[in-house]
Amino acid sequence: MLPEKYPTDSWTNVPPTILAQYGRRLHVQPNHPLSITRKLIESRFPGFRNHNDLPGIVTVHQNFDSLGFTADHPGRSRNDTYYINKDTLLRTHTSAHEVDVFKANTSNGYTISADVYRRDAVDRSHYPIFHQMEGALTWDRSDFKTRQACVDQITTDFEKLPKHDLVVEDPNPSFHAERNPLQEKHHTPEEAEIIGAHLKRSLEDMVVTIFTEADKALAAAGQGSQAEQEPLKVRWVEAFFPHTSPSWELEVWWRGDWLEVLGCGVIDQPLLVRADVPDRIGWAFGIGLERIAMLLFGIPDIRLFWSKDARFLSQFDEGKPIRRFQAFSKHPAAPRDVSFWLPKSNAPVVANTPAAASSAPSPAGGQQTEPSLDGAAPVFHENDLMEIARNTAGDDVEDVKLIDDFVHPKTGRRSLCYRITYRSLEKTLTTEEANALHERISQELVSDFGVQLR
Ligand code: DAH
Repeated sequence: MLPEKYPTDSWTNVPPTILAQYGRRLHVQPNHPLSITRKLIESRFPGFRNHNDLPGIVTVHQNFDSLGFTADHPGRSRNDTYYINKDTLLRTHTSAHEVDVFKANTSNGYTISADVYRRDAVDRSHYPIFHQMEGALTWDRSDFKTRQACVDQITTDFEKLPKHDLVVEDPNPSFHAERNPLQEKHHTPEEAEIIGAHLKRSLEDMVVTIFTEADKALAAAGQGSQAEQEPLKVRWVEAFFPHTSPSWELEVWWRGDWLEVLGCGVIDQPLLVRADVPDRIGWAFGIGLERIAMLLFGIPDIRLFWSKDARFLSQFDEGKPIRRFQAFSKHPAAPRDVSFWLPKSNAPVVANTPAAASSAPSPAGGQQTEPSLDGAAPVFHENDLMEIARNTAGDDVEDVKLIDDFVHPKTGRRSLCYRITYRSLEKTLTTEEANALHERISQELVSDFGVQLR
């Protein structure tokens, strides 16, 4: 529940179901797979200060402005973000604390692990609350006589990093004027180059640790070691984040697919100026913990992390080597379709962008919808259905997917059909139970968005 009373206004869109989960702090719950994953990553950054208790309610300023997000950045949309009120929200990423932690200036390196909140799709890898870890390392140029001496120190630190025999594809230059610029006003090419190299090597080391553990767990479960067939392989992809430049994403070749694992880059210098540490230079990254934990333990559905069922929780032991999760039961799925005509006034529906890594910002989750002022039915966005489904069916909804979308050639009206798959993790849903949930969701679409069921 909310620790304090916050005034609400026309921006408020946090549903009670989210508030009910607020404060579960799975990432520090002993023997929880998210906590084990967090500790495994933290162990690769010795000497870093680990912040695991930062509260999830932050200001719009902390979450967006302090990081240099533009005023029209799509992440600010009420379709994508849970607002407590116009100025206050549930953090959408751990980066929201970067400036504050830099300002406190208590360590060169830090991690921040925490729960983060996003309105998003309903499926087995998306949940409106998930966990991220932020990491950053900086060097203070004022500790050195010359800028070159600082570069030399970073170089020495780089050379001391653990070596690995990972196959690394990194085809792009360290920075590129149009695609991935050096912060020319603030960094020399040598500075950006060595910070980037230190960043990449550090994160490659982390990935080796994670994927070696995952591979051992697979082999121990008799599911075949990937490493025996082909060596572990990663690639660096150019990216964009408001708070870093140059920026990259790291992808890992895992069981036949490139998997996006994290976002990172050379910290935006104006951000460090805003944090009153203008002489510090360095790198930062952000990683989604669920995705890593799912792959480490072989957890098939993101809802399981929230389970209080001993059959789930008893399978994890932080003192022991990582073992694959054993599914304890699989109850039958109950799919139901809902088709409806949108009201004429509805602007084009914006669908969610396909499953981005949970660490990555959902680039253009939706159109910017201001609260409706004229009392008209609110405009329908796909995430509204996601939320109605979660609020009504809780963790008994597994997946919501658009399966049909067409415009009537004569009337110009638009019809959508969604398939909602109900499945409980704990029991078999009866036909009546699934029907009742579906009926409530359908009726709510009618009453909240003025759609016409078909
Ligand atoms: N905050 C980003 C997100 O949630 C992830 C991220 C990217 C964090 C780059 C960083 C970074 O610190 O440098 O999508």
